Amino acid sequence: MYSVTLINGDGIGPEITDAVVKILDASGIKINWDLQSAGADVALSEGEPLPKRVIDSVKKNKVALKAPVTTPIGKGFRSVNVQLRRELDLFANLRPAKNLPGIKTPFDNVDLIVVRENTEDLYAGIENKINDDRVEGIKLITRQGSKRICKWAFDYAQKNNRSEVCAVTKANICKLSDGLFLECFREVSKEYPNIKTREILVDNLCMQLVQNPSQFDVFVLPNLYGDIVSDLCAGLIGGLGVAQGANIGQNCAVFEPVHGSAPDIKGQNIANPTALLLSAIEMVKYLGEFEIANKIQKALFKTLGEGKVLTRDLGGQAKTTEFRDEIIKNLE
Ligand code: NAI
Repeated sequence: MYSVTLINGDGIGPEITDAVVKILDASGIKINWDLQSAGADVALSEGEPLPKRVIDSVKKNKVALKAPVTTPIGKGFRSVNVQLRRELDLFANLRPAKNLPGIKTPFDNVDLIVVRENTEDLYAGIENKINDDRVEGIKLITRQGSKRICKWAFDYAQKNNRSEVCAVTKANICKLSDGLFLECFREVSKEYPNIKTREILVDNLCMQLVQNPSQFDVFVLPNLYGDIVSDLCAGLIGGLGVAQGANIGQNCAVFEPVHGSAPDIKGQNIANPTALLLSAIEMVKYLGEFEIANKIQKALFKTLGEGKVLTRDLGGQAKTTEFRDEIIKNLE
């Protein structure tokens, strides 16, 4: 029996979590779900959106499955997501983007890995108000943080038989900050002579990605570019409803989709649980249960490939619960 922290989030979070937990439970894997709520409602009842009990639970279980949590824009509490990643030092954000069966997209040969630095850059939250008309945000890049994410990306490439790692920066403009990131990338790359390297500026990359994505393999990026580029990559494979992710640190891992809490479709039973399910499949692999992971993936791919029961974002009419039940039916 595995113990896994379950953060069911808000917005569409509870709906897609319910679907994914039911699919996993039907797959035969024995998981004791340690449900931990977080977010705006929790801030009202407990005084903070990410209480210590949530962090303690992830530290104890070492693995979490997390649905999205809303972050108020402008005023209000700090992002639960950013805080969770920083408190647990989940420095590597892995966001694979690969074509899925049955989902028609402009390109059919997309197989990209985005490795995003998860703790530094403009997300370090160092913002100062100089006066009513002037504010500043600090782009924090450290040698230690850049080297460890670059090393993680190269290790990932090596373990997964990937041939190239591409560093994405704006080092022509942010000469010191992105310059340091790039310097670390070059230094770390010397330890991996069998893996090709490439360097590209983030604006050029965006243009190239929407014209010819198959020329790329693994990306490593500072936090902000990683956030934006991974949404672009999600668009290449069918949208946010199908884009998986994981936040990985030295001692624990939190698996969560790329997308947010989608308040526009909340409570309508139409959200696509695929992104959370793909994240959960990676979690099952992380637990070492490869056969069960494969079984769930086959059921998902069969459902997507047949195209009979699809959620609205994929061009279908099915409710979240109908899509869930079709996947459970396809579990063999
Ligand atoms: P979003 O990802 O929630 O939604 C963008 C668009 O994609 C919306 O039209 C939405 O309906 C659609 N969409 C997203 N997930 C979907 C799914 N599973 N099935 C079908 N359609 C889906 O981005 P948005 O609107 O910018 O953010 C909403 C909130 O989520 C914000 O408060 C933001 O801070 C938060 N957020 C949380 C994240 C997390 O918890 N890891 C990540 C990104 C945003």
